[in-house]
Amino acid sequence: MNGLLTFTRLRVEDSARLAALLALASAADRTLFHPFEFDEDSLRSVLAAARDDLLVGVSAQGVTDLAALYTLRGLDDGYASPMFGVFVSPTRRRCGVAALCITHAITTARLAGCPDVQLKVHHDNSAARALYARMGFQPMREMGGQAVLCKSFASPPGAVA
Ligand SMILES: CC(C)(COP(=O)(O)OP(=O)(O)OC[C@H]1O[C@@H](n2cnc3c(N)ncnc32)[C@H](O)[C@@H]1OP(=O)(O)O)[C@@H](O)C(=O)NCCC(=O)NCCS
Repeated sequence: MNGLLTFTRLRVEDSARLAALLALASAADRTLFHPFEFDEDSLRSVLAAARDDLLVGVSAQGVTDLAALYTLRGLDDGYASPMFGVFVSPTRRRCGVAALCITHAITTARLAGCPDVQLKVHHDNSAARALYARMGFQPMREMGGQAVLCKSFASPPGAVA
């Protein structure tokens, strides 16, 4: 079967593919997800600056186009808890890609020793709110008209119950 999904840390050389994915964002998507500018030059700068922060591309094996992007950011600014964000190509939605990204991000953060993963979501982003509730995120506080949600880790990596 073709289409095996791969998760890859995006680098500067992936700027054009990432710009192509984000160019698919509708005007509504952009109001709900806009962590940085979506033009190729801006994305190149974001990717070049990332140290511990992660921008992860999801693609089907053998396919150049990205199906999704997820981000874990804030570590480079000194925060212990990474902020999660996700954008799925409009043609790849409702197939579980975002849910898979969340699981991947949580395990990655957990293995890196982070205490939790946090995110911000607009109140009117019903799709994302349903997704995050299903994935076990809990409300923490309000910030700038958005809800801050958190997924805490029950125990540190390697702990035996
Ligand atoms: C929100 C978004 C990431 C969801 O991606 P996705 O890959 O389609 O989501 P999944 O297929 O993994 O959905 C998992 C579950 O989330 C919920 N969900 C996802 N999209 C939904 C929608 N449009 N309406 C209602 N529930 C939805 C459902 O419970 C779904 O499970 P189900 O399909 O079995 O019912 C995608 O619509 C997107 O990229 N939107 C624009 C960017 C954005 O808003 N990002 C989040 C910023 S906080």
